[in-house]
Amino acid sequence: MEWGMANRMAQLIQPDGHALFLPVDHGYFQGPTRKLEEPRRTIEPLLPYADALFITRGVLRSSVDPDRSKPIILRVSGGTSVIGKDLANEGITTSMEEAIRLNVSAVGISVFVGSDYEKESLLNLSKLVDEGEKYGIPVMAVTAVGKELEKRDARYLGLACRIAAELGARVVKTYWCENFDRVTRGCPVPVVMAGGPKVDTELQVFEFVYDGMQKGAIGVNLGRNIWQNDFPVAMIKAMRAIIHKKATPKEAQEIYDTQKNQSQKR
Ligand code: 5RP
Repeated sequence: MEWGMANRMAQLIQPDGHALFLPVDHGYFQGPTRKLEEPRRTIEPLLPYADALFITRGVLRSSVDPDRSKPIILRVSGGTSVIGKDLANEGITTSMEEAIRLNVSAVGISVFVGSDYEKESLLNLSKLVDEGEKYGIPVMAVTAVGKELEKRDARYLGLACRIAAELGARVVKTYWCENFDRVTRGCPVPVVMAGGPKVDTELQVFEFVYDGMQKGAIGVNLGRNIWQNDFPVAMIKAMRAIIHKKATPKEAQEIYDTQKNQSQKR
């Protein structure tokens, strides 16, 4: 691996081999999502506990100070919205030149395997990988399931992750599912887990993240279940303990409960 690529990968994946990416890119198709209405307010308290931010250029420039930043994974796909015809019909929104200007550690793009736009999104990924490899910038493929949440099983997610890796993604983001080891075993590059829409209890999140880590994930790219929580700092600290300190779900819950009592409700 070239020095630049290796250096950027090392900025993202910590010396223990694990990573906590904090995605705050949701506005690129959802608009001012709940608790991300004012991005700076959401991001600032969480920044010290994230290994990297997954973010668009607009929110990066407007809401993150360049002198107090973290490694950046730049969201470079989009062009659709939740009220439009088809979320899967994304294009590449941001050039590699812009990614370099912003000094990012990686770029991220969604792929929509099984959708009407499967081919387009996969070819976008390939093109982005070609560009990224030229400059030593890793590509994170976001395997998106869109509205088809029933496809959250190991067979589908395993297929999507493997295809993304085959096309050259250096990291793949997917969802946790039952038999998650089938997904990670079939994917020759590091896998991180997203959280999806907010679930009812913190423990549910701790349990699936813990299970995924036991089954081969290197960490998370997990947003709403952190920053839509009433106590987001408590939540990210508990999550960090699972990812970097091998905490069990019960230990993570204890950390959350203790931290919650010491922090302000958001
Ligand atoms: C949506 C994304 C997010 O980065 C990804 O889904 C992770 O966020 P969450 O944990 O909230 O699902 O790609 O734009």
